[in-house]
Amino acid sequence: MTTGTPERVTKTVGRAVVVTGGGSGIGAAIAASFTAHGDRVAVLDRTAAAGIIVVDVGDESSVRAGFAAAREQLGPIDVLVNSAGLLTESDLADMSLAMWNETLTVDLTGIFLCCREVVPDMRRAGWGRIINISSQLGIKGGRGLSHYSAAKAGVIGLTKSLALEVAPDNVLVNCIAPGPIETPLVAGISQQWKAAKMLELPLGRFGRPEEVAPTALLLASDPGGNLFVGQTLGPNSGDVMP
Ligand SMILES: NC(=O)c1ccc[n+]([C@@H]2O[C@H](COP(=O)([O-])OP(=O)(O)OC[C@H]3O[C@@H](n4cnc5c(N)ncnc54)[C@H](O)[C@@H]3O)[C@@H](O)[C@H]2O)c1
Repeated sequence: MTTGTPERVTKTVGRAVVVTGGGSGIGAAIAASFTAHGDRVAVLDRTAAAGIIVVDVGDESSVRAGFAAAREQLGPIDVLVNSAGLLTESDLADMSLAMWNETLTVDLTGIFLCCREVVPDMRRAGWGRIINISSQLGIKGGRGLSHYSAAKAGVIGLTKSLALEVAPDNVLVNCIAPGPIETPLVAGISQQWKAAKMLELPLGRFGRPEEVAPTALLLASDPGGNLFVGQTLGPNSGDVMP
């Protein structure tokens, strides 16, 4: 007997996954985890390396070309993880407009541009997952990081709004807001700052990229991720408890 309700599409493995910023740190760990899970992964990164599609996520035509190349390799995209990002530091009073704009362009506009590339594929398929890497600093702010915190808070707002737009098509959009994770992004920060920061953390230590990757796999999983819509999950050593 038919009920008139179309069967919900399910995708669990062998999916076409794009990870931006997958050349390093959290993105690299996430790309490796999806590959180990049995998905087909294209890595987009600004830094050229073997097997990487070179893309500047802040540049519209570069993003368009990068996703065309990814689709050529993988077909329509099922899962997008936006991990590309950069971090610089300056008090607001001393911050140049160029520094502000660079951060907003890469860390926020980049996510807009990449999401826009995949939403039509996902809607057509009736299944899709977008996972945006924000930061706990988008929730709590950080001294010397007004540009970064603004961009990361923007990612949370973008995620909620897009989630509302596409959830009816079974496309789920969520954020991960990690705490401090040992990657090249934080390598330049002084040992003194790191030591003081660790004392603040209930776990007393920074996380590792492979401790963040399983959260991305969870959000992409079906049925495990099916009820997360516009959420911000926080693998953050206890730094923020929303
Ligand atoms: N490490 C942390 O403590 C931490 C905490 C919270 C959030 N995050 C976020 O996690 C994400 C990944 O950071 P990470 O720590 O793995 O850093 P990372 O520096 O190890 O990796 C970032 C990657 O993004 C790429 N990238 C930078 N600008 C790009 C651009 N314009 N176009 C394409 N690729 C670009 C870099 O080449 C690099 O491979 C970032 O969005 C970062 O803001 C990191």
